[in-house]
Amino acid sequence: VLLIIATTLLAYLLGSIPTAVWYGEGFFGLDIRKYGSGNAGATNTFRVLGKRAGTVVMLIDVLKGYTATILSSLLWYFDVIGTHEILTFKLVFGLVAVIGHCFPIWADFKGGKGVASLLGMVLAIHPEVAAVCIGIFLVVVIASQYVSLGSMMAALAFPVLLLLRAFGQKEHPLLIVFGVVVFLFVVLTHQKNITRLLNGEESRTRLIKFRKK
Ligand code: G3P
Repeated sequence: VLLIIATTLLAYLLGSIPTAVWYGEGFFGLDIRKYGSGNAGATNTFRVLGKRAGTVVMLIDVLKGYTATILSSLLWYFDVIGTHEILTFKLVFGLVAVIGHCFPIWADFKGGKGVASLLGMVLAIHPEVAAVCIGIFLVVVIASQYVSLGSMMAALAFPVLLLLRAFGQKEHPLLIVFGVVVFLFVVLTHQKNITRLLNGEESRTRLIKFRKK
């Protein structure tokens, strides 16, 4: 039990690494949370500090969620948990890391919206479904130029895809509950974005620049 508690704490500390804040402070001497949307995430880093900074922050944030989730397999490998418990602890450690990302102990508990770290978590649990969600995210962002809308559509697609697979009895019920939690969580962290989208005030992000002929 002690080892499980220690691993949960480790997952939180890992998720808590405020990549966007540290990158902004370290390389640009500014607090990303005072610029753009005020969010300490990859999208706002991309918006304020540019493509390279945004990509680095995104990759590290994805890796945080991924690593925390696979801590479960490590516990299994060392016989701390049984085979039937791997999924449960993947969900626990992953979600704890996502909460760490949103409320980081290293940055006054003001972090991001959890999308990149959730992606890392889903990649560790269900790479095929994660790949489809990434596809949906990209299509929505390229078409609408709203990253927040892309994040929410991908989060909506996640439980829907799991449910579709469940008809073929391929999915664990716990995973479907997790899918619904992910969607609700992303809607919750995007409340300001939803208000801005409804008021037509959300800032646009162009991933691909189409040249006019
Ligand atoms: O991943 C966060 C994204 O969906 C929205 O970020 O900075 O536009 O609020 P932002």
